[in-house]
Amino acid sequence: MLEVQELTKTFTTGPETVDVLKGIDLEIGKGEIVAIVGPSGVGKSTLLHIMGALETPTSGRVFLEGTDVFAMPDNERASFRNRAVGFVFQFHHLMRELTALENVMMPCLIAGVPRNEAVARAEELLDGVRLADRLHHKPGELSGGEEQRAAVARALATRPLMVLADEPSGNLDRANSEELHDLIWGLRDSLEQTFVIVTHNPDLYGRADRVVALKDGRAERWEGEGREP
Ligand SMILES: Nc1ncnc2c1ncn2[C@@H]1O[C@H](COP(=O)(O)OP(=O)(O)O)[C@@H](O)[C@H]1O
Ligand SMILES: [Mg+2]
Repeated sequence: MLEVQELTKTFTTGPETVDVLKGIDLEIGKGEIVAIVGPSGVGKSTLLHIMGALETPTSGRVFLEGTDVFAMPDNERASFRNRAVGFVFQFHHLMRELTALENVMMPCLIAGVPRNEAVARAEELLDGVRLADRLHHKPGELSGGEEQRAAVARALATRPLMVLADEPSGNLDRANSEELHDLIWGLRDSLEQTFVIVTHNPDLYGRADRVVALKDGRAERWEGEGREP
């Protein structure tokens, strides 16, 4: 489903250059839940953003279902990303002025899905994340856990090939984290939805099919063995 080949990323800020990613190779299969772990500043978000075509790599390639993502012209890549990738961030990034229903409809409308179909799909998704009775609430009228569940519903709106999540439970208490994690696993079981999740939460990475640890610009598989990744 997703293949990352010899990916590097160097940031240049004024006179300073930082080699954040120094050659990452990674394969992720359909229906897999893969966790990415590592200390703050190691490049987890950068890797996730490149995997989702939000940022471009310095070198290397990303294939999503055989499509060479960075070989596409920019405008094509943007619409491909909107359809093929769902994002969930630590702070939901829902639009404050829109209701939960409108927020979840938005990616569909951008992708050209007819309005009535977008409404039906958003209602079904919000029902699936236990927000059927919060359709017309704005983010400020939802709890933190509800906002994150709405963000998951929005990420799924275009039926993406994969969902990329950056510390999705980083801002939630234990009960809400657990509910969010159960939701993610439920979606994998019912839809074979693929997830790549950056996380510091042992409850989350402890449950993942595979844990990839970033260290000094490279990815290594973490096997557990009783030590911290
Ligand atoms: N847009 C940018 N410009 C310059 N440096 C950046 C940029 N984004 C990230 N970095 C640097 O790259 C490194 C990795 O950042 P990030 O991927 O956010 O790490 P993590 O998510 O693992 O905490 C950090 O040193 C950060 O300062
Ligand atoms: Mg980060």
